Amino acid sequence: MMHLRSVLQSYGFVFFFVVVRYAHGDLSYSVQEELKRGSVIGNIAKDLGLEVGRLSARKARVDMEENDRQYIGINLRSGDLVVAERIDREEHCGEKPSCVLKFELLLENPLELHRLSLQVQDVNDNAPIFPKDVVKLEITESAAKGARYRINAAQDADIGKNSVESYILEQNPHFVFSIQTTSAGSRYGELVLDQELDREEQQELKLLLTAVDGGSPQRSGTVVIHVIVLDANDNAPVFTEAVYTATLPENSPMKTAVITVRASDADEGVNGEVTYEFSRISDKLQKLFSLDDKTGEISVSGDIDYEEGRKYEVFVEAKDGYGLSSDAKVIIDITDVNDNAPVIHLKSLTNPIPENVSPGTEVGIINVQDRDSESNRQVRCSIQQGAPFKLVPSIKNYYSLVTTGQLDRELVSDYNITITATDEGSPPLSSSKSVQLSVADINDNPPVFEDQSYSAYVSENNKPGSTLCSVTARDPDWRQNGTVIYSVLPGEVNGAPVSSYVSVNGDTGVIHAVRSFDYEQLRSFKVQVMARDNGSPPLSSNVTVSVFVSDVNDNSPQILYPAPEGNSFMTELVLKAAHGGSLVSKVIAVDADSGQNAWLSYEIVKSTDPGLFTIGVHSGEIRTQRDISESDSMKQNLIVAVKDNGQPSLSATCSMYLLISDNLAEVPELKDISYDEKNSKLTSYLIIALVSVSTFFLTFIIIILGVRFCRRRKPRLLFDGAVAIPSAYLPPNYADVDGTGTLRSAYNYDAYLTTGSRTSDFKFVTSYNDNTLPADQTLRKSPSDFADVFGDCDGSPEVGTLNMIDFPVTKMLGTLSDALALLN
Ligand SMILES: *[C@@H]1O[C@H](CO)[C@@H](O)[C@H](O)[C@H]1NC(C)=O
Ligand SMILES: *[C@@H]1O[C@H](CO)[C@@H](O)[C@H](O)[C@H]1NC(C)=O
Ligand SMILES: *[C@@H]1O[C@H](CO)[C@@H](O)[C@H](O)[C@H]1NC(C)=O
Repeated sequence: MMHLRSVLQSYGFVFFFVVVRYAHGDLSYSVQEELKRGSVIGNIAKDLGLEVGRLSARKARVDMEENDRQYIGINLRSGDLVVAERIDREEHCGEKPSCVLKFELLLENPLELHRLSLQVQDVNDNAPIFPKDVVKLEITESAAKGARYRINAAQDADIGKNSVESYILEQNPHFVFSIQTTSAGSRYGELVLDQELDREEQQELKLLLTAVDGGSPQRSGTVVIHVIVLDANDNAPVFTEAVYTATLPENSPMKTAVITVRASDADEGVNGEVTYEFSRISDKLQKLFSLDDKTGEISVSGDIDYEEGRKYEVFVEAKDGYGLSSDAKVIIDITDVNDNAPVIHLKSLTNPIPENVSPGTEVGIINVQDRDSESNRQVRCSIQQGAPFKLVPSIKNYYSLVTTGQLDRELVSDYNITITATDEGSPPLSSSKSVQLSVADINDNPPVFEDQSYSAYVSENNKPGSTLCSVTARDPDWRQNGTVIYSVLPGEVNGAPVSSYVSVNGDTGVIHAVRSFDYEQLRSFKVQVMARDNGSPPLSSNVTVSVFVSDVNDNSPQILYPAPEGNSFMTELVLKAAHGGSLVSKVIAVDADSGQNAWLSYEIVKSTDPGLFTIGVHSGEIRTQRDISESDSMKQNLIVAVKDNGQPSLSATCSMYLLISDNLAEVPELKDISYDEKNSKLTSYLIIALVSVSTFFLTFIIIILGVRFCRRRKPRLLFDGAVAIPSAYLPPNYADVDGTGTLRSAYNYDAYLTTGSRTSDFKFVTSYNDNTLPADQTLRKSPSDFADVFGDCDGSPEVGTLNMIDFPVTKMLGTLSDALALLN
């Protein structure tokens, strides 16, 4: 009571707290909610000052304003106000801080109405409740520290102390819980990220959040906060190895797999999708290798050549969907394959090689290279057999090309040398090089005549300049070393320089006659021809050319006896007693030609009495055919033709006068026979010759005497030597040529006319011509006399001209006197 009063006095809230006791004042009670039915709230009787017994009489009753429900009732026997039904504060007042229920207390008899207010006091009968049992939160792992995530607060129907007082978050490393109050005063919770999440470590968290109230006993409610960690691209791909190593043989075909790199990314989805690419690669390598961006397989896409590169390094980058990347190094070792054949280089070459180099001369240097490695580059070098060359290994990969034998350009002038180089790979590769070598000429071969000796046959009376023959010499040397030049070696033929007889065409070797030859003068001679090459020094060889002059029938027979017709009055005496067949006379004729051309035949072409005489066709002997009879004319005249056997044949005729008589005196008219021809060439020639020789001799003597006079010490010089008298001083003559002409012994007479002995060096060569034996007046001898001088007509002919070769001066005088005697 005291309390109520004081409250009323102090605060004016009397209405709520003071129980009105008097008159029709309000009654006020306080009661805890949720009390059991029947629980006593207060005593109305007492508070109203009524007798308990009266209550029932007065039909006391309590009604709730505006509500039918009877939460409280009156125990009429005790006057107590009791809880009639469960009173839930939260039901009636919710969150209102004070909860007053209004009742009306009705008394009848007299009707009396009292207000009754019931203060319902809160009891902690409600636990905090979260709106949901589970709160799902999706938080990206990349969320930064301090990030806040709102959590709806728990509700507690109770108020005041009994409502939610605090939250307790399950212990965890990542989040803390904080309570915030809005400006409007409402509260909410926040999950604050205290430490970053890592999806890769923990994909989700379940945190239990407990809300507790301040009541007693304390009540709590929980919620599960289900945190799902969302992936963030926070992981770069990671290669399985930092450095990959692969080996690859060179020449691997396209698409050969080299190596596969692999990187894994802890992220998921796009963040974990790894693609590969080359991060650092040269343009060159770009062409050699390709990378599958999905599988990470590196494969060959170009020509892998060990010789180009032995080791490659590339960097491969692995990237995930959002661009995080990492890289790895890939080392590719290329292994050698024997794919390079050795290459032969000709470093130097002596070409052409003089053929006279000595064996062992270095003529070239060869270098061999192989781009492969190890044994694939070990090279052996060889040269084909058969050529006189070899390879001598020198320093490193160098070889000398050396001759092994003597070279001879004339045998082999060019060599094709094939050098083969083989490496030691497996299979081995080889290559070869052909070297062409030529051999330079040295003048080492003299010209060689095709024949050991040459013979030329030429008919006499040839035209000067006519071709006699040709000589050929071969010289296998090159160009001027093999160019043959012909020349006639100086020499003498018949005392004249050989060049006046023949000449040779220096280029062609054709030998020409320089002059016309006369068989009767010169039947053969030898000429030395030299073939010389044009080298330096020149080489030469000689050959003998024998020139044989053959006879031409250019001389008609010459009748020695009798003298030709008209010039002769020779008369033969035929004895009357001559029988048939007896030799009467003989026609003697000679022919300067030889052989057939000098083969004479005789024929009587005309005769006084054709039946009387006959002539030996070949002997020229005139014989009687029958016995001489008295009836035969005393004077017989025969004309005899002498023909040689040449083609065409030449002939001469003569007349023979025969006198058939036993006595010469019977024929006086013969004395009248005379010759008109007075000149004799022979005679004049002899005179000229004698005069010349005499003059020459006298001059000679004078010179010798003069020399001797000047040099008395050498008195004997004068007659020491032999002096050659040129034949030009002598009359024309015919040379004696031995051994030619088959019929020569019969018709060509040689006579040695000597005044002294036959050992004389003089040699008269028989010769006959028209003027040789003229029955000249100067001779003053008849032909028969003449014949007597030299012997029988059958014997031999006689007069010759001088043909003097050489003779001692001391004997010349004798010769001359002989000749003079002859003329006389
Ligand atoms: C050498 O080779 C060349 C060209 O290959 C060829 O013309 C020539 O006839 C050859 N010589 C020999 C002697 O084989
Ligand atoms: C001829 O030989 C000489 C050496 O005897 C040599 O020097 C010269 O070159 C050769 N001439 C030719 C054209 O080969
Ligand atoms: C050829 O003859 C000439 C002159 O007699 C001589 O000098 C030369 O040596 C000779 N040559 C040979 C190869 O005999």
